[in-house]
Amino acid sequence: MKRVVSIVLFAVLLVSFNQLKAQQTNEAKMKTFIDALMKKMTLEEKIGQLNLPGSGDIVTGQAQSSDIAKKIKEGKVGGLFNIKSVAKIRDVQKVAVEQSRLKIPLIFGMDVIHGYETVFPIPLGLSCSWDMKLIENSARIAAVEASADGINWTFSPMVDIARDPRWGRIAEGSGEDAYLGSQIAKAMVRGYQGTDLTKNNTIMSCVKHYALYGAAEAGRDYGTTDMSHQRMYNEYFPPYKAAVDAGAGSVMASFNEIDGVPATANKWLLTDVLRKQWGFKGFLVTDYTGINEMIDHGIGDLQTVSARALMAGIDMDMVGEGILLTTQKSLKEGKVTLAQIDAACRRILEAKYKLGLFDDPYKYCDENRAKTEVFTAEHRQVARSTAAQSFVLLKNQNNVLPLKKSGTIALIGPLADNKENMPGTWSVAANFDKATSLFTGMQEVLQRNNVKIIYSKGSNLDYDAAFEERAGMFGKSLHRDSIPTDVMIGQAVAAANEADVVVAALGESAEMSGESSSRSNIEIPTIQQDLLKALLKTGKPVVLVLFTGRPLALKWESDNVPAILNVWFGGSEAGYAIADVLFGNVNPSGKLSTTFPQNVGQVPIFYNHKNTGRPLEEGKWFSKFRSNYLDVSNDPVYPFGFGLSYTSFAYSDIKLSSASLKGKQTLTASVTVTNTGKYDGKEVVQLYIRDVVGSVTRPVKELKGFQKIELKAGESKTVSFSITPEDLKFYNYDLKFDWEAGDFEIMIGGNSRDVKKGKVNWIK
Ligand code: BGC
Repeated sequence: MKRVVSIVLFAVLLVSFNQLKAQQTNEAKMKTFIDALMKKMTLEEKIGQLNLPGSGDIVTGQAQSSDIAKKIKEGKVGGLFNIKSVAKIRDVQKVAVEQSRLKIPLIFGMDVIHGYETVFPIPLGLSCSWDMKLIENSARIAAVEASADGINWTFSPMVDIARDPRWGRIAEGSGEDAYLGSQIAKAMVRGYQGTDLTKNNTIMSCVKHYALYGAAEAGRDYGTTDMSHQRMYNEYFPPYKAAVDAGAGSVMASFNEIDGVPATANKWLLTDVLRKQWGFKGFLVTDYTGINEMIDHGIGDLQTVSARALMAGIDMDMVGEGILLTTQKSLKEGKVTLAQIDAACRRILEAKYKLGLFDDPYKYCDENRAKTEVFTAEHRQVARSTAAQSFVLLKNQNNVLPLKKSGTIALIGPLADNKENMPGTWSVAANFDKATSLFTGMQEVLQRNNVKIIYSKGSNLDYDAAFEERAGMFGKSLHRDSIPTDVMIGQAVAAANEADVVVAALGESAEMSGESSSRSNIEIPTIQQDLLKALLKTGKPVVLVLFTGRPLALKWESDNVPAILNVWFGGSEAGYAIADVLFGNVNPSGKLSTTFPQNVGQVPIFYNHKNTGRPLEEGKWFSKFRSNYLDVSNDPVYPFGFGLSYTSFAYSDIKLSSASLKGKQTLTASVTVTNTGKYDGKEVVQLYIRDVVGSVTRPVKELKGFQKIELKAGESKTVSFSITPEDLKFYNYDLKFDWEAGDFEIMIGGNSRDVKKGKVNWIK
């Protein structure tokens, strides 16, 4: 036995040794290649590599004569982004590798955020699946499609922790929790980059927006961020670091300032933390005109801010061309160093080398792949089942859901028959014509069943036409109706009166979240609330199918509407996926990755808050001189981790392998979960830990693990978590990552509020 173990160990060591050797050889080869290339480069050409201009309107066949082509020929462009189609990309690449002096290929980026043409749910929705394989696979499929269409670099994953639903870009991330966010960040990087970046179906990922972009004051986009280093390291940095640890090839700096210096010029952030502390080896790109915007931030003119960005650690300048235009002058004046220019240029060239572009600049330009690997039936099927996993059932009184496949359904609402909005925000490559509306999805899913669907729009998106226009940009209009609202509502009520059940597809339009789409009121627009109230008055059971890119304040709806299914924006196949869940072909299992507040005044509200010195006593609504509000309880409407199923799950008490532990021992914490309902279902079992006493204050609980299990009706399973001191570590006052001896509360449950508790003491 011992011999077998030794042989296996030897074999493992040999494999890792060989891998390390191969990696070293590759790196040495890369270095030799780039050394030789850089020797030939003029200063101007080196600076040119750092330039990522906006692509403008490159038209196939005209790339040669465009302004961009002129710059490419002069060696003043390192890459381009958001150009769609192999034909266009090939045209532009041709200019670079045939007409520029050194024939250096361009890198082609795109915001492939949640799928390419096959669109997956918006990231906030995807995160509610708590299914890392599913999430990784969505990124894998996105990479296959994007790379088949000429793209080799994606500005994703977006891993900004966000606790403020006013901020529109909360839609693009994975919610409020650092642990869940880190798991997702890793899964996405793995999905995009695979294990081999030189393959033609993997693409380089770019983690963004580094850092703390999600903590903008008042939830206003591009706003100021100001937070303690403790909070940064423990609560906001982990997902960025996780993505870097997973090997992300690039990082994007954020628009916001940190400690009074915009991230784009923040040397502490970009070099000390990212490169020195975390060991990041890839390249750093600014966000869109991130350098130029520092003029308005108020830290200098274009030359100054460009020099500061470069010296802080930025390698590539997106759109603004500040680096291109001012660096030679700054070098002469001693404001930047040649070493820094060389380092930045080298990192861009390394990225291109790692992608295999020097071997074959056209390796992602295969027309045949573009025709056969994009928006395939197989990809769409995966997107459909993925979307269904992202939906969160928030309420289901009297089991209104699933719907019967018989009788008459009134399908009402401005989002019920609109396909353009299904893909959601940031779906750059989507073809809206190919998306499916809920109405179509329901009809197709019901094909052979005897169900009558009466559709009525019921209302516009909002009373305010100007607001509706702002919320319908990028071809995502809800096609505003000129019929008076009372008439529209009247029509919807008539439809409801004829039906057995009402499905109300309401909420936000796709562009009510995303970039520059912050809201100060996070309720369903009043016009739709009025519609909903009228529908409820008919006395028919109402199912609210809620479209949203952010947590909404749903107090009234949760008190008054019998069933609420939150579907976010589920992507190109959302229409089918929603129908699958409504009719019970799929049992919902999503769990919230962000807290849903009662009202906007509670914001920011998140589960892993601190206790304060005057915590409200458990079970109380208000207590004088305690930390609370006069007019609203401290509770959210739906807590982090919450989500129902068509079945129900019962949790046993928690079992701990020991009540006192020492040093590197492992604690096993388990519960038995039983499916007590009538349907087979999936449940996300969540582990939380509270570090009761610390050298600094610690959160009331922190997610430390989760397992998604499947249980047949009536079935039980024991779910165990192994906990080691690694899980107890945090950044202390001196920002040292360590754990401290003491008492710990161990909690397991189906959401962050309803947990079974145990206690252990752990000494060093
Ligand atoms: C956004 C980024 C995006 C970039 C390129 C910016 O406005 O903040 O997330 O990657 O544009 O499209």
